[in-house]
Parts: sequence; structure tokens; C-alpha cells
Amino acid sequence: MTTIVGISGSVRSGSFNAALLRVAAAECPPDAVIRIESIAAIPLYNGDEEAARGIPAAVARLKDAIAAADGLLLVTPEYNNSIPGVAKNAIDWLSRPPADIARVFGGKPVAVAGASPGGFGTILSQNAWLPVFKTLGADLWPGGRLLVSRAASAFDASGEMKDAAARDNVRKFVAGFVAYVRGR
Ligand SMILES: Cc1cc2nc3c(=O)[nH]c(=O)nc-3n(C[C@H](O)[C@H](O)[C@H](O)COP(=O)(O)O)c2cc1C
Repeated sequence: MTTIVGISGSVRSGSFNAALLRVAAAECPPDAVIRIESIAAIPLYNGDEEAARGIPAAVARLKDAIAAADGLLLVTPEYNNSIPGVAKNAIDWLSRPPADIARVFGGKPVAVAGASPGGFGTILSQNAWLPVFKTLGADLWPGGRLLVSRAASAFDASGEMKDAAARDNVRKFVAGFVAYVRGR
């Protein structure tokens, strides 16, 4: 069984990115699973807190989940043409302490996807993640793009993706990433 940890970079209850992650999990090929994890309990990074109390439990748990998984799928919004602070804050915490980065991210296959109500489908945010994952030594999957634009019409009120062609794009993206993870 190939295990992918899936994280939404938005903690909003009606998040399009969380909806996209759920579609990706539902479209996962046989013998693979996308385990959806949350960043909602991760506090703002504060070096004083880290020095005094160490790594928060929610961070330690997510680090272990990523370390144990075969790959990581980050479904990210775009804020101000870049990475949302909430998501970057989570990854920053997950990179602490530096001596543990290799265990969590080193050589880890990572795929980035995203959904936005506008016309560009998070392309600038996805690009902005590249140097972050390179810095962490992850193995960023170069094979696919999943850019869901016009998200308000791509998902229905319950967060389902009804359009067969759009859903097929998600299925192909996930299948490509899973094949990449397995082929390494
Ligand atoms: C502070 C802020 C900045 C934003 N900047 C962008 C942007 O640069 N490009 C974009 O496509 N959408 C932008 N948006 C709109 C988001 O794509 C939209 O709120 C989206 O629904 C967020 O993802 P979510 O639905 O997963 O929470 C911005 C939203 C906020 C709150």
C-alpha cells in the first residue's frame, strides 16, 4: 500500500483546496491511499515557545505522519500571488528542529496542487513553493500540474466536483504522482 499524506493549506470550513484534496483522496488508485491531515491545530511559529516548550504535539504528530508516508500532497491556496502564511507557518514548524528535516522531508516525493476562484488556479503559489521544498531536500514531483481555476463553479455546495473532465484531471494527477512515488 502506497501512503500519501494530504494537507490542505487552508483551514477554512468551506475551503476549495480542502475540497480538492478530498476529491484527490477519493480518486486515489487502488493500493494507494491519501490520508488527509490537518494543519488547523498548529500554532504560529514562535522561537521563544520552541525554546521553552519544544515542538508542539500537533506538529510532532504531523511530522511523524509525513516521515512514515511514501509521499506528501500539498493542496495550496494562493494569497497575494504567493504562499498563504497559514500554510507556510505550518511547513516552517514542520521543519523544526533543523536536525530532523532529513527524516521528515529528505528525498520525500512531494506534489503541489491548488484551487482558486480566479482564473489562474494558484500557479504563482505553486511556483512559490518550489524553493521551499528544494530547501527542505524534498523530491518535488516534476510531472504534473493540477490548477483548478473558477473554483466556485468547479465544486458544488457540498464540495463535490461534478464535472467529469475536471474530475478526470484530478484522477490523472493523483495516478501520476502515485506512479512516481512507487517507481522510485
Ligand atoms: C489575503 C488573501 C489574498 C488572496 N490573494 C489571491 C491571489 O493572489 N490569487 C488568487 O487566485 N486568489 C487570491 N485570494 C483568493 C483565494 O484564492 C480564495 O479566498 C480561496 O477561496 C482561498 O482558498 P480556500 O477556498 O481553500 O480557503 C486571496 C484571498 C485572501 C484572503
